[in-house]
Amino acid sequence: MTFHGIALGCGNFGGVGSSPAFFGQGSTEEEAFALMDRAWENGIHWFDTADAYGGGRSESFIGRWRAARKPEGLVLTTKVFNSTVGDPADVGLAPDRIRRQIEGSLGRLGVDRIDLYLAHEPDPRTPLEETIACFERLVDEGVIGAWGLSNFDLSGLAEALRTGRPALLQNPYSLLDRTDEHGVLPLCEANGISYVPFGPLSGGWLTGKYRRGEPFPAGSRMTLRPEPYEQFVDDAVFDGLDRLRDEAESRGVSMAGLAFAWVLASVDGAVCGPNRAEHLGPILEARGVALSPVDRERIGSFFS
Ligand SMILES: NC(=O)c1ccc[n+]([C@@H]2O[C@H](COP(=O)([O-])OP(=O)(O)OC[C@H]3O[C@@H](n4cnc5c(N)ncnc54)[C@H](OP(=O)(O)O)[C@@H]3O)[C@@H](O)[C@H]2O)c1
Repeated sequence: MTFHGIALGCGNFGGVGSSPAFFGQGSTEEEAFALMDRAWENGIHWFDTADAYGGGRSESFIGRWRAARKPEGLVLTTKVFNSTVGDPADVGLAPDRIRRQIEGSLGRLGVDRIDLYLAHEPDPRTPLEETIACFERLVDEGVIGAWGLSNFDLSGLAEALRTGRPALLQNPYSLLDRTDEHGVLPLCEANGISYVPFGPLSGGWLTGKYRRGEPFPAGSRMTLRPEPYEQFVDDAVFDGLDRLRDEAESRGVSMAGLAFAWVLASVDGAVCGPNRAEHLGPILEARGVALSPVDRERIGSFFS
């Protein structure tokens, strides 16, 4: 199986990613069901979660949605590293921990096989070859279909390639974060590794919801968990956003739709991160925005 295209990111279900401080917050089960229904009906049949999202709530919501809707052909990605219960000592990629965590994921998702299983981040305390050997045994046993990596930089990916070949890499990539163009993307291409990033809208920055000199909208990510995005509070970013807004208006599309289309035109797909069903609108819109290599280059230059 190849892993390309748009995945529905379920990191907002029952929390804000893996942050223990937000377990039990984020999208409610009802909102998550509405999002999964809308994504499914619109041909997004690949869902991305992690054992620790919402302290296990994200996987549980997906499991109960699966049981209710019985979707034929749903493809699931989940991940391992962070603690499901918010215990900072219970993290990592040690083989015995992976074995324990995957049992929890299978149970919450209500499946006996996970299509794609990712190391959520590198674990400096576990030799990578032990983690990869564990993943490959899980493939041989039929518990997972394939394995991949997330948040691995160039040296981490090169190290992994000395032991095995991940099916997919999930790192951040967007108009506001093009770090992986320098080394990681060429290495993925040379090794046939799918590159399907998270953060295609830079946590909402590329939707235009954050305005120069204005307070952040109540309840937005910048008011809840701003740390990963604080560097965007910068005049050069606001200038780029103004140019993106003008470009979107001239094309009659939303800023978010154009920014998402830019990612789709650049790499193998993207994991979207809607917070409510209406956020899926620009994602679906992006599928109809064709960008030539020249358009892609020009739009990219708004932020350089
Ligand atoms: N592997 C990893 O370490 C990792 C890390 C992060 C995410 N992920 C995965 O990737 C998925 C997407 O990542 P991401 O959340 O960073 O994606 P993103 O698309 O860059 O950001 C999502 C946020 O953007 C805002 N947003 C999205 N659509 C919007 C719209 N139409 N109008 C206004 N605001 C909108 C929402 O912010 P508000 O919350 O402010 O409403 C939403 O929470 C996650 O769900 C998760 O599955 C993986």
